[in-house]
Amino acid sequence: MPSDRLEDLRRRRERLLAMGGPERVRRQHEAGKLTARERLDLLLDPGSFVELDPFVVPRSRDFGLDRVEAPADGVVTGHGAIDGRPVHIFSQDFTVLGGSLGEGYAAKICKVMDLAMRTGTPVIGLNDSGGARIQEGVVSLGGYADIFLRNTLASGVIPQISAIMGPCAGGAVYSPAITDFTVMVRGTSYMFVTGPQVVRTVTREEVSFEELGGADVHAGRSGIAHFVAEDDEECLLLLRRLMSYLPSNNLDDPPRRNPTDDPSRADPALDDLVPEDPSRPYDMHVAIQRIVDDGEFLEVHAAFARNLIVGFCRLHGWPVGVVAQQPAVMAGVLDIDASVKGARFVRFCDAFNIPLLTFVDVPGFLPGTAQEHGGIIRHGAKLLYAYCEATVPKLTVITRKAYGGAYDVMSSAHIRGDLNLAWPTAEIAVMGPEGAIDIIFRKELAEAADPEERRRELAADYRARFATPYVAAGRGYVDDVIEPRETRRRLITSLDLLRRKRATNPRRKHGNMPL
Ligand code: HXC
Repeated sequence: MPSDRLEDLRRRRERLLAMGGPERVRRQHEAGKLTARERLDLLLDPGSFVELDPFVVPRSRDFGLDRVEAPADGVVTGHGAIDGRPVHIFSQDFTVLGGSLGEGYAAKICKVMDLAMRTGTPVIGLNDSGGARIQEGVVSLGGYADIFLRNTLASGVIPQISAIMGPCAGGAVYSPAITDFTVMVRGTSYMFVTGPQVVRTVTREEVSFEELGGADVHAGRSGIAHFVAEDDEECLLLLRRLMSYLPSNNLDDPPRRNPTDDPSRADPALDDLVPEDPSRPYDMHVAIQRIVDDGEFLEVHAAFARNLIVGFCRLHGWPVGVVAQQPAVMAGVLDIDASVKGARFVRFCDAFNIPLLTFVDVPGFLPGTAQEHGGIIRHGAKLLYAYCEATVPKLTVITRKAYGGAYDVMSSAHIRGDLNLAWPTAEIAVMGPEGAIDIIFRKELAEAADPEERRRELAADYRARFATPYVAAGRGYVDDVIEPRETRRRLITSLDLLRRKRATNPRRKHGNMPL
């Protein structure tokens, strides 16, 4: 081959690597952001990235696009590896036309999504874009829709993860919203359907980008962001860590890590974790960390609905999804946000063969008009529905309260919990002693010479008889009452057995989940 052909190819490739040019790269860095290609270097195993479609250019020639050089059309796409496992990837390049999405750009993303589906590999999207490419008009909207459709069809088949590392506005937010996990970078990313200017015009509210759609708002209030990272580097390392718990697709098992923590390790400190006084809080994170491999827990949605904890850990090397009440926040009560958060996590784990481990200490659903009018019936039903339909191994540990409907919801034996254990501190009943006494002994209390004294006596009697695990254990609703120190060993033994579990749901187009 004539050497000038090779030279030409090399020059063209070099030009691609320069992205939007030194000035725009400098501005990207000044804004505290890495470039699309620097991000790929950090995210993927060294040397593993294979780029596709680098020579795509904007298809439209309108509004001066014919005079613009737009390397890779503003999005770097391809595949690479994380811990040796293949992933497909797109990385939006804000230095080229603001990372805005046009026809060719959307087609590049669709191509890697299609490849990911054909090969059963996850898709990671690094988002940093001014949205629909204004010069390309309605064609850009079509491009977004092509992506939304693929996001939806890939849901539950391959893991899809979105990192928001810059602007993400308008309809563009709906692609990350359909994906399984969203990470936002604090201070440099934002997501909203309509920006501050439109908000001002329509509602007269004055709000900044950060207050409207910054990382903390979405991590703590809307629940849109599952994770927040301090900067790009932390975000990319977090994506690698998250991937280490996930299978490549819905037909694969999640990746096992060589276990180093003794599967029979007993932990006497757990025996004293739950306070004597049932109204005293304690931190359920302690239980999780003491039981799982090496105390390692990747919490999802850590700042949202903190009365429920969800996240990933390993037991004897195998990834497990944890759902746990947090008695230290609102007594671990189930409210609308906690129900929705739990339901989405349970469904993710079930879709991707990740066993569920549930720690229960729940006084019930949160009372009040705000919750009732906000739809706690419908939203609470989501969590119930998610647990009922889940066919992955389901292990449950009741550490203290399991009252009322919340007992049923939290992976109880009745809804196909495979192993249901209780600590001796468990209280499994229709409701707590005080509430129960006031209802069933209302007449007697009204007539008592000393109603307070009588209430105390009756409550003590109720507590001794019903606020224990033994009535439920007597029925076989819990499989065993165990010493807390033994929990790890018991869970791992069961999990080993449950690897053989086969369970299916009736064939249907899809259920009608209470959305
Ligand atoms: C084409 C765009 C662009 C866009 C930015 N640019 N957004 N080009 N289409 N949507 C270009 C700018 O012209 C500029 O080019 C470069 O990208 C960087 O933009 P700046 O404005 O200099 O950057 P910054 O100050 O950081 O502001 C970023 C921004 C702003 C807030 C995103 O650019 C902006 O408001 N852009 C428009 C956003 C928007 O309205 N998009 C359409 C949303 S509707 P030069 O050559 O100067 O470097 C939408 C619908 C999706 O997306 C529907 C899906 C169904």
